[in-house]
Amino acid sequence: MHIPVETLLLVLLLCHAVQLRPLRALAQAPDDPGFPPCAAADRAALLGFKAGIFKDTTGILSTWTGTDCCGAWEGVECHPKTGRVTRLQLQRPQAGAAGSGLYMKGVLSPSLGNLRALEVLVISGMKQIRGAIPDSLARLASLTQLYLEGNLLQGTVPSALGKLPSLRALSLSGNRLQGQLPPSLGSLGNLLQINVGRNLLTGPLPPTFRNLHGLQYLDLSYNLLSGEMPGFLGQFQNITFLDLSNNQFHGQIPTSLCSLSTALDISLSSNRLTGKIPTQIGRLRSLNTLSLSQNLLTGPIPESMAGLQKLWYLNLSRNAITGPLPGALAKGMPALLSLDLSYNSLHLGTIPDWVRSRALRDVHLAGCNIRGALPSFSNGGSLSSLDLSNNHLTGDVARFLTNMSSLQDIKLSGNMLRSDISELPLPDGLSSLDLHSNQLYGSLPGLLPRIGEFMEVLDLSSNRIASALPNFSEGLSLRWLDLSRNGVTGGIPASVSQLTGLERLDLSRNQIRGSIPSSLGQMTNLRYLDISSNSLAGEIPDALLEIRGIQHANFRANMLCGQIPQGHPFNIFPASAYAHNQCLCGKPLPPCKKRL
Ligand SMILES: *[C@@H]1O[C@H](CO)[C@@H](O)[C@H](O)[C@H]1NC(C)=O
Ligand SMILES: *[C@@H]1O[C@H](CO)[C@@H](O)[C@H](O)[C@H]1NC(C)=O
Ligand SMILES: *[C@@H]1O[C@H](CO)[C@@H](O)[C@H](O)[C@H]1NC(C)=O
Ligand SMILES: *[C@@H]1O[C@H](CO)[C@@H](O)[C@H](O)[C@H]1NC(C)=O
Repeated sequence: MHIPVETLLLVLLLCHAVQLRPLRALAQAPDDPGFPPCAAADRAALLGFKAGIFKDTTGILSTWTGTDCCGAWEGVECHPKTGRVTRLQLQRPQAGAAGSGLYMKGVLSPSLGNLRALEVLVISGMKQIRGAIPDSLARLASLTQLYLEGNLLQGTVPSALGKLPSLRALSLSGNRLQGQLPPSLGSLGNLLQINVGRNLLTGPLPPTFRNLHGLQYLDLSYNLLSGEMPGFLGQFQNITFLDLSNNQFHGQIPTSLCSLSTALDISLSSNRLTGKIPTQIGRLRSLNTLSLSQNLLTGPIPESMAGLQKLWYLNLSRNAITGPLPGALAKGMPALLSLDLSYNSLHLGTIPDWVRSRALRDVHLAGCNIRGALPSFSNGGSLSSLDLSNNHLTGDVARFLTNMSSLQDIKLSGNMLRSDISELPLPDGLSSLDLHSNQLYGSLPGLLPRIGEFMEVLDLSSNRIASALPNFSEGLSLRWLDLSRNGVTGGIPASVSQLTGLERLDLSRNQIRGSIPSSLGQMTNLRYLDISSNSLAGEIPDALLEIRGIQHANFRANMLCGQIPQGHPFNIFPASAYAHNQCLCGKPLPPCKKRL
């Protein structure tokens, strides 16, 4: 039923177009420098596409009126002589809040396959174009670039795409494509770029891909691809970008990969790779970034890695790599800026001298069995992120952070640090401070009023802070505040509602008294609220019902009394969220007794 209607529409459009063409030619002034008249067949194909989109908030398709598809239609370009459409480029206006909500809703019309002279087809970032990639695209014999990124396309990658002999760049990333990659793509000998990342693709890489000798860019990340990582990847002698991360590849890292002497960026992270990092890794002499994190790699870091002259980003976190670190690293990797060796089977004992003395940007050595007092970093001023959590560090955080004025992210949780929080220096640009599970003490009024406008995450849970909460002022961007498992006293100030961006507030397991301020109801971004195990009394204010997006709340083990706010979702939270209070009643607890 569907196809005949569409064909009919197409024929109608074609007739219409043919009739109008001479008119336009007549209307055109002789010295008009403008565009060639649009080929009728192409205009019909474009209108077929437009008909498949039933909602367009980008405004692009509203320019597709009249017959002048080569001049006036946004995103369309024609051959200057023939009037055949050579480029169709539909991109959501980039960046900023302005364009971010815009979309096209509908399907890709098979009529696109009638744009026979098309060389470049870009329909990207439209977010709501669903349905399959039409097989008819295989008729676009001159197509060199096909970008259908960031839509909601479904179905499989059509095998027919293997019939596009001129194709040099193919990107289908950020859709919902399923099934296996078609082996036919391996016959596209001119392909330089493939990006099918962020889909739901399964199965192994087809062995035919070994024929894509000229490949420079291969992104298969964020799929469900499996099988062994194929050794033929090592034959892509011109490859610069290789991202196979976030899949289910297993087996060893093929040694052949180490012969990719042009590779700049390689990521194999978040797979199930086993075995050792190949000792020949140092042959990747152009390498800028290497990520092998979140695999099951064992054995030591190969000494040859020290020879990677251009490597600035090295992420080997979350494997089972063993120590000691090769001594050659101290003088090697001269370009290094970011180092992440967290959560391996390393027993570093101390932070290596070279890590403390070089001007690095990111140092992540969490869970590396580092002991003793926090050491000094002679180039601490260059650090932007530091993660030394889950070690056995002692000492004074305040002094340690003194000269680290560029830090944006600090994680020192899970150590044995002792410090007065009111003396902590807070770098101006700090956005995240995680010091949970230490032995910190001191006054919250000495710390909280000093947090800057960029601070989004503050986690001081499981320490020894025995002070009252200060009043909060407006203008903060805190999204996450966790002060649970301390000895916080006093009440919850009504001014907590000044934290308008707060999504998570955890004050549980303290000694907070007084009542729950009804101003909490103004914190409409709150998703998670835990004030359990305190000494709060009075009612749970009905004003909390204003927090429409709340997903988790816990009032357990206080001295609260009265009716639980009877509205969604407070009346359907588990009863345990209200248990062990003085006299709470109403859903999900038993009904309140009528007052007389
Ligand atoms: C690699 O790139 C070089 C230089 O651009 C080119 O001459 C060569 O043909 C390419 N190799 C392959 C296998 O495409
Ligand atoms: C290392 O990779 C993991 C993901 O696999 C990521 O969470 C972490 O932030 C990375 N480290 C750095 C320093 O970028
Ligand atoms: C911080 O830097 C100053 C000036 O460079 C230096 O004198 C001081 O010792 C440093 N303090 C710490 C704790 O590293
Ligand atoms: C917070 O502000 C209230 C009202 O302005 C005031 O009564 C209270 O003392 C202040 N609390 C603190 C800890 O500064």
